[in-house]
Amino acid sequence: MKINNFLVFSLSLVLILGVARSFDYHEKELESEEGLQGMYERWRNHHQVTEKSPERFNVFKGNVQMIHNHNKQNKPYKLKVNQFASMTKREFIDTYADSKLSHYNQLYKSRDNKMLKSSYGDIDINTLPKRMDWREHNAVTPPKSQGQCGSCYAFAAIGAVEGINAIRTGELVTLSEQMIMDCDTTGKTNGCGGGLVCGVYDWARDHWGIATNASYPYVGIKETCLGCKFGKFLVIVDGNEDLTRHDEEAHLKAAAHQPVGISMDPGGDGFMFYSEGIYTGPCGLEIQHAMLIVGYDEDPDGTKYWIVKNSWGEGWGEGGYIRMVRGLPMEEGICAMYSQSNICLKSPETKNFYAP
Ligand SMILES: *[C@@H]1O[C@H](CO)[C@@H](O)[C@H](O)[C@H]1NC(C)=O
Repeated sequence: MKINNFLVFSLSLVLILGVARSFDYHEKELESEEGLQGMYERWRNHHQVTEKSPERFNVFKGNVQMIHNHNKQNKPYKLKVNQFASMTKREFIDTYADSKLSHYNQLYKSRDNKMLKSSYGDIDINTLPKRMDWREHNAVTPPKSQGQCGSCYAFAAIGAVEGINAIRTGELVTLSEQMIMDCDTTGKTNGCGGGLVCGVYDWARDHWGIATNASYPYVGIKETCLGCKFGKFLVIVDGNEDLTRHDEEAHLKAAAHQPVGISMDPGGDGFMFYSEGIYTGPCGLEIQHAMLIVGYDEDPDGTKYWIVKNSWGEGWGEGGYIRMVRGLPMEEGICAMYSQSNICLKSPETKNFYAP
């Protein structure tokens, strides 16, 4: 009896906290201008949005109707009115993803990419586990927030370094995106102005390694590179390996062994408002965002998907993650996610640096 009461109590607490975090509305509110106005005020309050204008309200209304219509359809994923509801898609991508990535996409293609080896290429696909979730293997830190800064590439790459470091050493350490933003002068990344995921791994190999977030914390703007922030512990890696472009099996082989950095098109209608379920698009082929594959699985109904970690905070999607459909007859993958993918190499012999 006591245990039952406690269970009910804990469950209601979870429910109350859950509701407190997400913004809900009543269908009635959408039916009149007054209703929408009231909803806009409640939403501003809920997400502590100080900006307010007739233009913003118009954008909000359009987004809310779009989200509501989407959720009425029988789609495999739902959207929600989240903190981005007063931004247009273009504004959102310019602010939280990376429209400047096109420059880096050119750079990626023009690199001297000697595909000398593929760590997992020879593996028989039938020997891979049916599902993998690196979160269950203590190899994924909680989703972070890039803020209003085009640093998605750094979050994807640092997530991959955190993953391979945890897999090799058994220790999960939250590492520093800011160090990359401040210290990489190779031209492969540019602070809040975008960059290449693969550039981060190579930079770390050729320089000092990667410091912890605790010693080199995230501030979300490019600052001066400060050696005094490197701290007494640096994760050392062996650089980058590209996955074969437009090859789902290559992604599966790699993701079975470690998290994989990907680049993709976040411009599908509703992507910015993704709430839960398996994302199936529609979306395009314009690479403007980077994320991290942290696993793969299959629904009871047979739909196969990737588990992908994003950097828009834990309030976005499924606690900061999105499940994206795989197994489609589509060589570039959903939202072109098989176009520009990389793993971070770290051999078991590559030891981290500890200052005495
Ligand atoms: C990283 O450092 C910043 C600044 O100290 C802090 O706000 C943030 O919570 C840290 N991130 C993580 C994931 O620990």
